Amino acid sequence: MSVHVVILAAGQGKRMHSTLPKVAHLLAGRPLVGWVLAAAESLAPESTVVVVGHGADQVRPLLPDGVLVAHQDRQLGTGHAARIGIGAIADLDRDDTVVILYGDMPLITPELLTDLSDLGDATLKMVTADFDDPTGYGRVVRDGTGRVVGVVEHADCTPEQLQISEVNAGIYALRAGDLVDALENVGNDNTQGEYYLTDVVGILAAKGARLEAVKAGAQEVSGINSQDQLTEARRALQRRINQELMEAGVWMLDPERVYIDVTVTVEPGVRLYPGVHLEGETTVAAGAVVGPDVFVLDSAIGADSRVWYSVVRGTQIGRGCEVGPFASLRPGTVLQDGARIGTFVEAKNTVLGEDAKALHLTYLGDATVGARTNIGAGTVTCNYDGISKHPTEIGEDAFIGSDTMLVAPVKVGDRAVTGAGSVITKDVSEGALAVERSQQREVPGYADRRKARRGKEDED
Ligand code: UD1
Ligand code: CA
Repeated sequence: MSVHVVILAAGQGKRMHSTLPKVAHLLAGRPLVGWVLAAAESLAPESTVVVVGHGADQVRPLLPDGVLVAHQDRQLGTGHAARIGIGAIADLDRDDTVVILYGDMPLITPELLTDLSDLGDATLKMVTADFDDPTGYGRVVRDGTGRVVGVVEHADCTPEQLQISEVNAGIYALRAGDLVDALENVGNDNTQGEYYLTDVVGILAAKGARLEAVKAGAQEVSGINSQDQLTEARRALQRRINQELMEAGVWMLDPERVYIDVTVTVEPGVRLYPGVHLEGETTVAAGAVVGPDVFVLDSAIGADSRVWYSVVRGTQIGRGCEVGPFASLRPGTVLQDGARIGTFVEAKNTVLGEDAKALHLTYLGDATVGARTNIGAGTVTCNYDGISKHPTEIGEDAFIGSDTMLVAPVKVGDRAVTGAGSVITKDVSEGALAVERSQQREVPGYADRRKARRGKEDED
């Protein structure tokens, strides 16, 4: 007997006021529907179906391989959506368990789903929660003995039913046969003219079936309907991610101010200061210290490296490197072990060799810098002539004097030196000194003569 998961995600999510379909919104590096899928995976389902509709073209690419997609052209209600969902499952046995959930509940936990899907001798299990403000939700109606007898939508509630604070979360588990049979009897004769999946509950209860409510915390099953709730949910998920990392041995000065995507790998022994954002395919190796105030996207930070007050994108940082404060490392940058990038330094598509350094006010673009070479303050690789980009190659143990302009394409050999303030337009040979600047001239006694001239002007 197997489990199938059906996730309803065809709705538009009007209250998001967004151009994206609701379930496509990202939280900590994963779309809303992705969080639901991740939780559902814990059930090891034989099949997982996502029912899409609004913005289907934007939702489909977000779904992992192996997830079935069912298209609901018109949103005729949750009952209609469920029918379309199970229609996509090829080998559905009547005895199989079907778990139905919504694509906008990112906080749902594997524990809750496991409890729910274990039907035991119940015909249907449903998740309920007590809401301080149940406005808008379907109410769970129980009889005098406390038995669940049905769900009444807010719009269809009597004044007494409106007082019920136990709401239907919209998450159910039941056998496929019971679901198929009950759905056949669901009509759309209600205030909204929709096919309500909730009618399945009443239909089964009327037959005397055993229904069980599984209580969940309000936050876990609230669903996301606004940007505000999206932010709240993100915070809760971030807390989970950070908690897990700290339990594994990551140090955080203030976990409330560390933002790590679920796609990121942080090794035990890493130290993170406030204001750190780690996004995309990023890895941080043991012993690295990151922050305060660092944004990292799709990059690797090697063991024992230190990065602070900087922006790092598409960059590979080796072991024992230093970056910042106030550096910008752009895609294609590679820092080999022990390399150092200092204040107001920008690098793009550049390899900085082992123990090489560029510590002050420098731009390195399309450059390779050999091991142990020192790039002086204010150095610029002039890599762009207004039409195309050109490479700069600097050898090992070279010394680039302060304020050197390296007009690419150009090569500087191993152990070569450039004089401060030089504009280097020709290749520099190994071990040579290249200086390009006019002779310094001296005009003796100039200051006194200038002062005298000024005094005279004032008298005039
Ligand atoms: C539904 C429940 C209500 C419950 C509430 C919890 C019904 C009739 N009511 O109400 O008892 O308290 O959820 O949040 O089920 N969807 C589709 N296709 C459709 C309609 C909806 O895929 O035709 C999807 C939506 O994308 C959404 C979910 O189903 O993720 C819920 O739909 P929505 O219309 O918001 O249901 P509610 O009115 O909130
Ligand atoms: Ca000059």
